[in-house]
Amino acid sequence: MNITENIKSFAEKFNQGLDAYFPIPKTLDARVIEAMKYSVKNGGKRLRPFMLCETAKIFGVDEKVSLPIAYALEMLHSYSLIHDDLPAMDNDDLRRGIPACHKAFDEATAILAGDGLLTYAFGIISSDSLQISSQIRCRLINMLSSAAGSFDGMVAGQMIDLAVENSDIEKLESKEAVIERIEEMKTGRLLRYACEAGAILGGANEKERLAIVEYSRKIGRSFQIVDDILDAVGDEKLVGKTLKKDKNQNKLTFVNLYGLDKAKEISDNLIREAKKSLEIFGAKATVLLELADYMGTRKY
Ligand code: IPE
Ligand code: IPE
Ligand code: MG
Ligand code: MG
Ligand code: MG
Repeated sequence: MNITENIKSFAEKFNQGLDAYFPIPKTLDARVIEAMKYSVKNGGKRLRPFMLCETAKIFGVDEKVSLPIAYALEMLHSYSLIHDDLPAMDNDDLRRGIPACHKAFDEATAILAGDGLLTYAFGIISSDSLQISSQIRCRLINMLSSAAGSFDGMVAGQMIDLAVENSDIEKLESKEAVIERIEEMKTGRLLRYACEAGAILGGANEKERLAIVEYSRKIGRSFQIVDDILDAVGDEKLVGKTLKKDKNQNKLTFVNLYGLDKAKEISDNLIREAKKSLEIFGAKATVLLELADYMGTRKY
């Protein structure tokens, strides 16, 4: 199976398991759960869950064990997308090829659906029904809080992304350094979590964990650069989001700063370096190596 088929078949299996996470009550609060389900279920490449389960597999962890953590991460990622699309943030009406949550429902419901998904992620990981020791679950919860949060995490990255959009970019000391921080935090931290959580689940030693972290940090940055390239020159039907927003919203990206060719070169270098980090795993890392190449060539 090639990597594209592998991701697709994982996503199908993943999607089939999602319903069980969303029992819809028949009471007035049903609306928020419907909005959560709407945003998680529709589309989505499921790359973070795939990365998490595949990294765990390197260390011999059965998918049955790693999947709940993967679901939790996808819930949290989906929350970040709902809030990212809100009028107060990127103001995008299209997500995953369908109306964004605030369009399909309304703004207040979208805010609450995001809140619901964020908190649900921690509920899933802390559940006693998981086949994971309480010590490891606690570590995974702590790591997720820092990856998603406002101290060097995803929220912090989103803050910088928005702050520079409204400021005079020319005044920034090092635009490159700011872009790298945005890439690393708003996007990289959750991709890093996917891989690091897989390694922690598998009891990786320090050298192995650091190699995985190195891989995921580079992949995380290149993932955002490719997202920025697709925003500029992608096919809207495939990408499923409104395109050319980064230029219109004056986002600080390598595409806007240096143009497409240079941005692609930076991304390709990061992917090459990411693959190098996995040398210590030999053939066991084949899927992660293929995934790195996929990340660089994806069309959506
Ligand atoms: C989009 O992430 C947001 C970024 C962090 C760049 P994905 O491209 O993984 O979006 P989905 O989950 O497949 O919709
Ligand atoms: C957002 O980056 C990353 C998140 C934390 C959601 P973008 O704003 O570029 O993501 P898209 O292009 O809307 O998916
Ligand atoms: Mg954004
Ligand atoms: Mg956006
Ligand atoms: Mg984007």
